[in-house]
Amino acid sequence: GDDPRVHDIKTRIRVIPNFPKPGIMFQDITTLLLDAKAFKDTIDLFVDRIEARGFIFGPPIALAIGAKFVPLRKPKKLPGEVISEEYVLEYGRDCLEMHVGAIEPGERALIVDDLVATGGTLCAAMNLLERAGAEVVECACLIELPDLKGRDRLKGKPLYILVEAH
Ligand code: PRP
Repeated sequence: GDDPRVHDIKTRIRVIPNFPKPGIMFQDITTLLLDAKAFKDTIDLFVDRIEARGFIFGPPIALAIGAKFVPLRKPKKLPGEVISEEYVLEYGRDCLEMHVGAIEPGERALIVDDLVATGGTLCAAMNLLERAGAEVVECACLIELPDLKGRDRLKGKPLYILVEAH
C-alpha cells in the first residue's frame, strides 16, 4: 500500500544475491531488526491487521489455564448469531458483540484486554457476559491509564493490571 511505514520497512530489508545458493536473492530481515522504529512499525502493522489488540493476550492466557476463549468483537466481525452491547466513547459510540451460545449460564469468566482507558470497553464486555449468564470474576489488562478512572465503571469488579501508563 502507500503507507510510508511500509516503504521504510522495505528499504531496511537487505537483499543478498546468491545466498545461500547461486540464483537466490536472500531477503535479509536482520537489518530491519537493527532499526528500532522500523521493527516497531512492522509489529504495529501486524497488530493493526489483527484489528483487536486484546486478542494478543486473551487466547494464550486461556490456553495456559485450560479455559475456553470467547472473542468479543466490534460489530459485523462475528459470523454467527450475536448479542450486542453499545458503549459510549469519548467521541461517539461503539459496540461489542459476542456469539450466542458461547457461554453457558453460570460459567466463570475472566475479561482480558491490552489496555483500560475510560473503562467503556470492559464495562460493555461485563454487560455482555452477564447477560449471557456468566459470572465475571475479574478483568485483567496489561496497561491502565489511571487518570481516566476506567476502574470506577467496573461496578466494583476487581481489575488486575500489570503497569500504569507513563
Ligand atoms: C482500545 C484498547 C481497549 C480499549 C480501551 O481498543 O484495546 O480495548 O481501547 O479503551 P476504553 O477503556 O476507553 O474503552 P479500541 O477501541 O481502540 O479498538 P481495537 O482494539 O480494535 O483497536
